[in-house]
Amino acid sequence: GGAATGSKPLAGQHVLITSGPTHEPIDPVRYIANRSSGKQGHAIAAAAAAAGASVTLVSGPVSLPDPAGVTTIHVESAREMLAAVESALPADIAIFAAAVADWRVADAAPEKMKKGAGGTPALSLVENPDILATIAHRKAGRPACVVGFAAETEHVIEYARAKLAKKGCDLIVANDVGGTGVMGGDANTVHLVTTEGVETWPTLAKDEVANRLIAHIARLAQAPKA
Ligand code: CTP
Ligand code: CA
Repeated sequence: GGAATGSKPLAGQHVLITSGPTHEPIDPVRYIANRSSGKQGHAIAAAAAAAGASVTLVSGPVSLPDPAGVTTIHVESAREMLAAVESALPADIAIFAAAVADWRVADAAPEKMKKGAGGTPALSLVENPDILATIAHRKAGRPACVVGFAAETEHVIEYARAKLAKKGCDLIVANDVGGTGVMGGDANTVHLVTTEGVETWPTLAKDEVANRLIAHIARLAQAPKA
């Protein structure tokens, strides 16, 4: 319709975005984390808001400010992130940009672990819930458009295609996080992977990747369903 075109292509749409790393506690003062800065996910949230969407951002621990005009929910662990995402539904579009920890410590210590008598502790890990796959496979209340990211250090397209199928999402934004630079950096080189094919974008500032991605998703959302 007319309201959804022009400079506000996502007017009237609720966009749900995850961003940042998760922290998985070892004890009250220690955690497992990763190098995600949240820059790409937060930029997508800002771009979606600029496109007129109502935006909920579920953010892991980052040192970025909450984007203006976005409802931001702060979480620490993967399980908290899943709960916050489920509470924020329904959404028209869901974009899972967070670098969710794949594993958490099986039984985090209730008190700070101390050196000494116990010797060197062994960490036993268990797999975290897959937030993207959980939401994409929902029978009721699945967002019409579900977008995942794929962080890879090798076989980027091949692994992204496998994730697209396994996770049940509509689009995978694949990026090569090998070497230094992408995680924490300001630029990103992405490949948009769907069942239709692959579209590779030039290396762009994360803000520009965000703007183009939101424009791309707005076009997908408006395209008549086959
Ligand atoms: N993801 C998620 N919940 C998880 C793990 C991943 O929602 N527990 C999402 C990420 O936000 C991303 C996508 O799944 O959108 C792919 O994440 P990635 O780490 O690349 O894939 P994994 O399935 O975890 O596989 P692996 O790390 O082994 O490559
Ligand atoms: Ca992972």
